[in-house]
Order: sequence, then C-alpha cells, then structure tokens
Amino acid sequence: MRGYRGAVLRFADDRSALYEEDGLLVIGPDAAGRQVVRAVGPYDKLAPDYEGIAVEHLPGRILAPGFIDLHVHFPQTDVIGSPADGLLPWLENYTFPHESRFADPAYAAEVAKVFLDELVRHGVTTALTFATSHPQSVDALMAEAQSRGLRLIAGKVLQDRHSPDGVRDEAVQSLLDTESLIRRWHGTDRLGYAITPRFAPSCSEEQLRGAGELAAKYPDVWIQSHVAENKDEIRWVHELFPAARSYLSVYDDFGLMRERAIYAHCIHFDDEDRALMRSTGAAAAVSPTSNLFLGSGFFDYEGAERVGFRYGLASDVGGGTSFSPFHTMLAAYYVGREGQTKPGVSLGPQALWWQHTAGAAVALGLEGVVGNLQPGCEADFVVLDPGATPLLARKVAHARNLDELLFSLVVLGDDRVIERVVVDGH
Ligand code: GUN
Ligand code: ZN
Repeated sequence: MRGYRGAVLRFADDRSALYEEDGLLVIGPDAAGRQVVRAVGPYDKLAPDYEGIAVEHLPGRILAPGFIDLHVHFPQTDVIGSPADGLLPWLENYTFPHESRFADPAYAAEVAKVFLDELVRHGVTTALTFATSHPQSVDALMAEAQSRGLRLIAGKVLQDRHSPDGVRDEAVQSLLDTESLIRRWHGTDRLGYAITPRFAPSCSEEQLRGAGELAAKYPDVWIQSHVAENKDEIRWVHELFPAARSYLSVYDDFGLMRERAIYAHCIHFDDEDRALMRSTGAAAAVSPTSNLFLGSGFFDYEGAERVGFRYGLASDVGGGTSFSPFHTMLAAYYVGREGQTKPGVSLGPQALWWQHTAGAAVALGLEGVVGNLQPGCEADFVVLDPGATPLLARKVAHARNLDELLFSLVVLGDDRVIERVVVDGH
C-alpha cells in the first residue's frame, strides 16, 4: 500500500463534491489483486491507521479522479480543426478520407500511441472510443491500451452503406468481425468492447439488426453511436426510415437501446426521445466543443434533468476541438447558459466536473469502478497543480470556497494543470 497526502476531490452519490483540504488517499491491491482506493479521508483522522506505509506529501496539489471521455474517435486525432459547413460535408470531405488510412495496421498503431499519449497527458484515464471500420484499427488501439494498463472501451465502426470505398464494410463480414473482436478483447485486462454502428444513415437494416442481435447476446458489451446531432442528418434519417417515430427510435427498433448504450450528441430530441433514453437506461455523451465547432446545436440540459436520463461529457475529437476536459467543461458551461431558462448559475463547477468523472462512470455502468476516488474505486487519478500558470495561481489564491476554486480550474485550466497521472496504481 502507498499513500498520497494532498487536497482530495471526490464525489458523493448525490453528485456533490467532497473535498478534503488536507487529505490522505491510500492505494493498494484488493482481494482480486486490482489496484484500488483502500482508504480516503482527512489526513489527521486516517494517518494513525496507516503509520507503516510510505506517504508522499504533495503540498498545494489536488488529487482528483482521472477524467472519463464518454465519446471520442481515435482515428480523428489528426482531423481536429477541419472546418466544414456542417456534419455531413465534414464527414465526406475530411473524416472518411482520413479514416481510410487506418486499413494500414502500422499507421493505426502509430496513431494509437499518439492518441493515448494525448488522452493521458490531459488527465483522461478512461475513454469510450470509436476506431474505424477496419478490424485491425481496433487491434492496434486495444494492444496499445493494454500495454499501458488503461481502462479503454472501443469498437470497430459498422458502416455498410452511404460510405465511400476505403471505409465501407459489408453487413455479414462486419458482424463476424465484431463478434470475433468481442471475444478477443472484451474483458481482457481492463479493456471493453463497444458494438459501434456509426449512425443510422451509414448502416443497412441488416447491419443494424445484426448489431442488435449481438447486443442481446453480449449484454455487458457496450453500444455506441451518434444520434440527433444535425438537422440535415435528421431529415436524411426520416427519408431512410420513414416508419420510425424519431431518429432515436430507429435504434430502439433494432434492439440497440439498453443500459451501456451511449449515444453521442442527443441534441434535437423531444420529450418522447428523452423518456426512451430514461426507460431503456441508455446515456447521452454530451460533446459541446464538437457541437459548437460543427454548428450542430446545444444539448438541452434542462430537458435532460426534467425527464431524468443519464449523461456525461465527451470530447468527440475530431469534431471536438480539444482533448482537454477543462476545455470541454467550459464549453458545456457556455451551452448550459445558452439553454438556461431559470435564474442562477446554469451549470456549477461541481456539476460540470461530475459529468466528466463520476457521472460519466454512471453513464457507462462503471459507477464505483472508475471516475471517483471512493474506497474500492480503481486507482486512476490525476495530481493537479492549481499554480500551473501565473494567472491561475493568482485566481486560485483568491478562491473563497470550493466552487470558486473549481470554476477557476474549469475556466483557466488545460494540460499544464495535469502534473501527474496515475493509471492502475502506477
Ligand atoms: N456522425 C457519424 N459519424 C460521425 C463522426 O465521426 N463524428 C460526428 N461528430 N458525428 C458523426
Ligand atoms: Zn462522434
């Protein structure tokens, strides 16, 4: 066992932040040999029980849960900042041509390293990730994540229509490939698999049906896709699936709505869609930098809270503009203000931080496993330096309470604040 003494941030079940200014975090193996939080609390209360262990003192530093990115595309690392009139031209002109390069396993392996370096450098220790339609892109990413001991969930993209040569797959083979990737990677070390229909317009009914059958056969495998992101996309879905009540209900009709199903964007919803999210236990990956960059729209936080479905924050790189959870939280704050109808601060810093850590873990069905520093959680955490930049240091020195401290970090923070990242206790 090992201890870290510093300020400690974690979250209670009611989403509020728990903060020990002078705390102790004790890490060690559980009965199954996993590196977990063995104890956490005020230093003066806990220290007498752990006199025999080595404790590293980190004055002025904050220990916080590793961030969770609920939706990101590893093959779009180099697509960041590609401007387009909207989602569909962006896919056609930048994203699909770039993703075709991942047929080459050596290229996929090289980008996998860069991608995971970027995630970890920004304090992200768990991600739900799209690969490309090439099974070898999943192998490259999983192998690299495995060698780093990361908790990562990824899947081969399914897209057998309305997709150009180079990324288009074929229904029967794509489903065989998906099942063999599930068997190879799901539950291997800290890795998980996600069945990954790109979005309804890129998948034939046969492919969606097969995806739903796999989702039923492997209930603890994740599902990830996109929904209700862009108005042109939604019009197209109505043409392709005229019998469906809404875009979201297409996925329900094919058995793709359940717990552990994560849908990116969820912007242009009505209350029936929201009720379907709630009743099925599916979750939304809110991707504000992407939605602002591509001009897609604004996630309706008040609607989500009124109906009560799960959601968390995501970068959606490369539609998204940054790997930084701080940038994503700040963009979410702007979006929350845009949709705000009630007075008061729309999304406080504790709520924003929760959405990128413990709340994202709830969305993934990994509550108590990652995204928090409560006892029993896996030992993935970041050491934050609130004095990392001169302006931040000045601002934090004047913070009178936890909200002011966290808001300073949300607004002024970036990768410079991430002083150290501990993954699986290392
Ligand atoms: N819809 C289908 N594919 C994509 C993608 O790669 N990014 C985003 N933002 N939306 C999508
Ligand atoms: Zn996406």
